[in-house]
Amino acid sequence: MTQFIVQPSQTLQGTFRVAGDKSISHRSIMLGALAEGTTTVTGFLEGEDTLATLAAFQAMGVQIQRPAKQEVIIEGVGLHGLKPPSQTLDLGNSGTSMRLLVGLMSGQAFDTELVGDESLSGRPMRRVTDPLATMGAVIESTEKGTPPLKIKGQQGLKGVHYDMPIASAQVKSCLLLAGLYAEGETSVTEPAPTRDHTERMLRGFGYTVNVDGNKISVQNGGKLTATQIDVPSDISSAAFFMVGASIAQNADVTLQHVGINPTRIGVINILREMGADITLLNEREIGGEPVADIRVRSAQLKGIQIPEDQVPLAIDEFPALFVAAACAEGETVLTGAKELRVKESDRIQVMADGLIALGIDAQPTPDGMVIQGGQLQTGEVHSHGDHRIAMAFTMASLRAKGTITIHDCTNVATSFPNFAQLAQDAGIDMIVQ
Ligand code: S3P
Repeated sequence: MTQFIVQPSQTLQGTFRVAGDKSISHRSIMLGALAEGTTTVTGFLEGEDTLATLAAFQAMGVQIQRPAKQEVIIEGVGLHGLKPPSQTLDLGNSGTSMRLLVGLMSGQAFDTELVGDESLSGRPMRRVTDPLATMGAVIESTEKGTPPLKIKGQQGLKGVHYDMPIASAQVKSCLLLAGLYAEGETSVTEPAPTRDHTERMLRGFGYTVNVDGNKISVQNGGKLTATQIDVPSDISSAAFFMVGASIAQNADVTLQHVGINPTRIGVINILREMGADITLLNEREIGGEPVADIRVRSAQLKGIQIPEDQVPLAIDEFPALFVAAACAEGETVLTGAKELRVKESDRIQVMADGLIALGIDAQPTPDGMVIQGGQLQTGEVHSHGDHRIAMAFTMASLRAKGTITIHDCTNVATSFPNFAQLAQDAGIDMIVQ
């Protein structure tokens, strides 16, 4: 199992582009496969999660080529052109692949079985299988509602309205994808805005999506027309360097071509409220998604009460934000974030354990954490196979007193395969072993 051994380093510098957006990359494969015609994707994230989605569609008969780095060409088969896979579809660590695919597979004419690794096999799926069942889907899971998921084909789905109890883009997207196959209208209301890449990309493929306040709906019977997709860099990957540059001394980092979709910018809003020095440069729109270069310089951060309305907009960034809070002056309080307990790891417990091991006063609560800013010491932390925990503690080295050893970092490859290289180039003293 890979370990990161990070030594204290002074500063973070450079202008570079982080990995492609994971959410948009997944959706580009899914919608490209279901479209009519050839879709080309540039800036594609070649991470294990998105490659699991890609392999799943290849297993269902879709021709997908990778002619160059971060470039993908998909020969769409149309909404009804997928073929039964000869084996189970293994989605590895990827919750997004599983939750979106279970919706899509529920509308197919053939049976499928979705499996995942140990972490994914423990993650809750009733949040998608329950509403899908009301549409007529037939899905078998374990007694705990976890994968493997066996999905029966040929069920003749019916559109429903679903009032989502949790703010989850995966649940929303799952139901909208099932809705492409369900008779009549399928609609959801969300309790708070979540990332809207599915809605934006469906429209980019020429499919009508209606949005009325917090209600999003689709009708069946349309078609997707192939298009070109330029995937921006992932703000969730940029977030590590945004925090790193904020807490390091004399830091000046520019992250190029980052997606700044308003449903994803909680990390910018929260860091700014903590006193971070963040400038958005060269703001532009590319393929229906807003993009900018993000310049971040050192700042003295202060602890804050994190506004709950920012939680869904920064849902993947809390491991990094907790490190920022550990380096801030005073107390940071997070509430309303119990979803963090069911991510790739229990991110509240695992981050609190790691921060405490590094000498920080971090109190986990059922739905958040209370962190007193302090001095990061030397120590050993465990990422529990969670990519974002490993990358967050790497940034902690910019303010630590001594070596930090981070165990179980292999899964950084799921979302950000060249993280260590970029971190080293920017000034972090780390060994990968
Ligand atoms: C994602 C949605 C979020 C996020 C995940 C990617 C997506 O999950 O945590 O990394 O691409 O739709 P939830 O919808 O479960 O919050």
